Amino acid sequence: MIITEQVDVLREQIKAWRNAGETIAFVPTMGNLHAGHLALVKRAQALGSKVVVSIFVNPTQFDRKEDLAAYPRTLAEDCAHLQTCGTDMVFTPTPALMYPTGGLATKVEVPGISQLLEGASRPGHFTGVSTVVCKLFNLVVPDVAVFGEKDFQQLMLIRQMVRDLDMDIRIEGLPTVREADGLAMSSRNGYLSAEERKIAPAFNRILREVVDALHKGGQDYASLQANAMKSLELQGFRPDYVEIRRAVDLLPAAAGDAPLVVLGSAWLGKARLIDNIPL
Ligand code: PAJ
Repeated sequence: MIITEQVDVLREQIKAWRNAGETIAFVPTMGNLHAGHLALVKRAQALGSKVVVSIFVNPTQFDRKEDLAAYPRTLAEDCAHLQTCGTDMVFTPTPALMYPTGGLATKVEVPGISQLLEGASRPGHFTGVSTVVCKLFNLVVPDVAVFGEKDFQQLMLIRQMVRDLDMDIRIEGLPTVREADGLAMSSRNGYLSAEERKIAPAFNRILREVVDALHKGGQDYASLQANAMKSLELQGFRPDYVEIRRAVDLLPAAAGDAPLVVLGSAWLGKARLIDNIPL
């Protein structure tokens, strides 16, 4: 497994693989890898003959400086995991390489989708995501890139960017990988205290109750959302939103719309958790 933070090493290797007829499957990450990330890597292995994983804690997508500073960085462990699941190359650029002057004059914006839900709660977040993923796509030039449905809105944003900018990259989405108790795996789960970790699975359970109510024909979306917010508060969360949305564009759903997705975000102690369940 090649590990490099250098663009010329990355580009040379990709060129050599391409000349040899290999196909490139790419998994962008911010590191601190867990079983959710590794599921994406395994899927990538099935989709391409060479697997490239990037590890880059992207400063421009953090809306709060403390979150960026505290974000867990575990490069040695990450590389050990990646080695065992068949990664061919790990690209670990530095912030100075990605943003030589501290920022960029050029940005990739996906208006609409980037302003809803997570975008409304975290101003600028999705511009940071679409811009860095565009840069990584230009560096790796993959045939296929794999993303998790855990970040449902991010996956939609990337699909939109690829369509709008005619990028010749297939985007593959993978269902959320969960702990046995239903909590979506996340690097931010590490911020939970032992006590909070016991409460955390209630987040997915409460979203699931909304899904069950929808399956039973519930159409009073406003009440279902409000009740879920109340349940989260009772459990000790500080909910940001619980929303029943149209899965095609994430706009508010009207009775009878399909397919739907239930999305939520809630603080628990120092951790801001997100989760969603597509119907
Ligand atoms: P990160 O949070 O490290 O996630 C990398 C990829 O892993 C994303 O596609 C994310 O959706 C997926 N993922 C995370 N937890 C998952 C889980 N429990 N099950 C399945 N997939 C999961 O998302 C980012 O990094 C960044 O925004 C990035 C796209 C790398 C741009 O900086």
